[in-house]
Amino acid sequence: MLTNAEIPSHVPQDLVSSFNFWTAKDMAPTPGGDPHLSLSALRKGPRIFYSPNNTRDGQGTWVLTSIDDMRTVLRDTETFSSHRSIFASALGENWPLIPLEIDPPDHSTFRKLLNPLFSPQRMEKLEAQVRQRAIDLIESFKDKGSCEVMSEFAFPYAVSIFLEFLGLPKERMKEFLDWATNLLHPATPQHRTDAAMEVIAYLDDLAKLRRSTPADDFMSFVVDAEVDGRRLSDKEVRGIAVLVFIAGLDTVAAGIGFDLSHLARHQDDQQTLREKPEMIPNAVEELLRAYSTVQMVRVAKQDTELAGVQIKAGDLITCASQIANRDPNEFPDPDKIDFERNANRHMAFAYGVHRCLGSHLARRELVASLEEWMKRIPPFRVKNGTEPVAHGGFVFGVQSLEISWD
Ligand code: HEM
Repeated sequence: MLTNAEIPSHVPQDLVSSFNFWTAKDMAPTPGGDPHLSLSALRKGPRIFYSPNNTRDGQGTWVLTSIDDMRTVLRDTETFSSHRSIFASALGENWPLIPLEIDPPDHSTFRKLLNPLFSPQRMEKLEAQVRQRAIDLIESFKDKGSCEVMSEFAFPYAVSIFLEFLGLPKERMKEFLDWATNLLHPATPQHRTDAAMEVIAYLDDLAKLRRSTPADDFMSFVVDAEVDGRRLSDKEVRGIAVLVFIAGLDTVAAGIGFDLSHLARHQDDQQTLREKPEMIPNAVEELLRAYSTVQMVRVAKQDTELAGVQIKAGDLITCASQIANRDPNEFPDPDKIDFERNANRHMAFAYGVHRCLGSHLARRELVASLEEWMKRIPPFRVKNGTEPVAHGGFVFGVQSLEISWD
């Protein structure tokens, strides 16, 4: 629940804005709302502003509007930390998601450990399963002539690939889908807490099982791994497993939702990809840029100056990929979706040491899903009488998207 936070005395009044990523116009889930387009208005404003109520629990954050300033923050891990314990603090606990909420040098130790598990070569081995999952789901509703993309495709697809990646049985799909929904889009805060506790209990049990009965899977690797000559603690194993669960669900589902929503509303772009499917990987990059979803938040470790303002230790700073990737100084005509855009140095997958560990998998998921849609579903459009509903938040997403075809 968002509450009004006090504005700290060092924040100049003229830099306080009522804008936030959750409830501002077009951020709340309303039909026709376009959270990305409404961010374009921020370009006319200052380089940095203060949003007093910009986190799930109502804290204020500074918001940067230039990609260069964001790169400065994300590069400077000495001054700006990512240690926030967001997931655990919602349960009244204090342990970091690993490696997201730890800083160098510990971050590098864990990243080195996990990198091989997410390597392009390893992800290539998952390609056949990822593609087959897309095919099975599409074939299950193809003959109906319509579907609701998020519940019938995007979420089941992302969750089932997570299960595949972790080596968990497909039969747990419904349970994981419910947990994912309650964690990411809870009806009440209590639903979120309950789901968080159930996910933790499940992953803790799995870790225990894999300690006694190892298999050839992700969890066995993690419980057997060593850092600095010692085994990982229970909390470290949990921090890794929970992060891998939450990092790849909403993000991939949102990516698919925004991609299909764009193509359903822009028949010319859809036609291009049907005629030239070899352009799909490039189109996916451009759609990742234009419909970026993740807000990166850092906490200042010491007093400093940023974009011309005084920052105090403890201040939160938002580096929103959604704003960065529509910065006209980096991307000419940023609101235009151009599948042939060159030099697309977007930060949809972040920037700096915390660059997304799952980007190779995510790209495969997005490309395979679009390729299979174009092959199997005839020209599609937003279903008559409905409008896509998108939402803002910590991760932007699509709440519902009904599409139909002949
Ligand atoms: C389109 C889909 C995805 C997007 C847009 C995305 C985006 C991001 C972003 C922006 C960050 C940095 C967050 C920050 O610095 O505060 C991040 C980190 C991370 N992502 Fe992704 N992600 C996606 C999919 C995935 C998938 C599928 C996985 C795993 C299966 C994954 C695992 C991770 C992990 C483990 C980190 C932490 C890396 C670190 O701290 O070193 N992501 N992702």
